[in-house]
Amino acid sequence: MLVFSTSDKGGTGRSVTSSNIAYRLCVDGHDVAYVDFDFGSPTSGSLFEITSVQRGLPVSDEDSEVGVHRYLLGSSARCARFDVGATTDRSGLRNTGSSTGRLVLLPGDEGGAEFLTCNNTTVTRCAQLLTELDQEFSIVVVDLSAGRSVALEIALKTTALEQLRDHSTRWLIFHRWTRQHILAAAGLVYGPNGLLNTGVNYGHKREELLGSVRYVRTAVPGSGVGSGGEGAQSTWLQEQNAALKRLATTSKLGMTALLGATPIEPVLQWREQIILDSDVDANIAAPETVAAYQLLARRLMDNAAWERL
Ligand SMILES: Nc1ncnc2c1ncn2[C@@H]1O[C@H](COP(=O)(O)OP(=O)(O)OP(=O)(O)O)[C@@H](O)[C@H]1O
Ligand SMILES: [Mg+2]
Repeated sequence: MLVFSTSDKGGTGRSVTSSNIAYRLCVDGHDVAYVDFDFGSPTSGSLFEITSVQRGLPVSDEDSEVGVHRYLLGSSARCARFDVGATTDRSGLRNTGSSTGRLVLLPGDEGGAEFLTCNNTTVTRCAQLLTELDQEFSIVVVDLSAGRSVALEIALKTTALEQLRDHSTRWLIFHRWTRQHILAAAGLVYGPNGLLNTGVNYGHKREELLGSVRYVRTAVPGSGVGSGGEGAQSTWLQEQNAALKRLATTSKLGMTALLGATPIEPVLQWREQIILDSDVDANIAAPETVAAYQLLARRLMDNAAWERL
């Protein structure tokens, strides 16, 4: 299964949430590939704490392996892969047993840049890469750049190709729980140059594409947060939460299209990382955060959550 993670705005929690979902899928026994398509800011190595690629794969002239960016540009070298369990510097992420699946990172290139245009070479290379990965892994998570980026264009063009049509494909749209983020996420999907219109231009069927889109709300505050109980602030926060729910529904981002939500996690406000069970056991991270990632991972795989809207 191919899973594309995107968002309209930057800093939505797309990468942190996607990498935690990937980790939970792996704990559930799935083999997962995590592919960094955020070409301008390829920092997914840091999420998995693989120090040598924390800003992407360093570039030199005689490389036998390249990051995703150079691979898509047509480099004849192999696309580099890092087995997270074997290469991470975080001891709790190292391979712990045979019951978990494999988690493999395909990093971007250090100093890479956003693609300015999407040509046939790039789409052909992308199709080749995704086809191979989809054969080898049960889930391939592709972390795209934010907004109506060329990375999104590449993903839409590639998945519209005959060769990838019968691969199961899902799109996750990440947004924060605020007015601007809800409006922006709706614009990314339904707007004039949004995912649906662009996808249809490249040969996708509108209803099919829409059926493969779900939203993830990130860092959602409890509606009574900071109120200390029953006062005016608490009432105001509850009213705002209700207003956001109405806005989400009228923007077509309501409950039926929702895959799930994550709570505000203090650890992630300080540090982008995978939340391990041991972080919860040590009373550092909240159990609700892990529960949210587990639920997202399971819903991602549950066909019932992906019935046509
Ligand atoms: N549930 C959460 N609670 C609190 N903070 C969070 C939560 N999820 C993510 N964050 C934090 O929000 C910030 C942005 O997250 P992240 O880098 O994943 O966003 P992004 O959408 O991938 O951003 P970019 O567009 O820059 O790639 C990070 O500091 C991250 O740790
Ligand atoms: Mg990111």
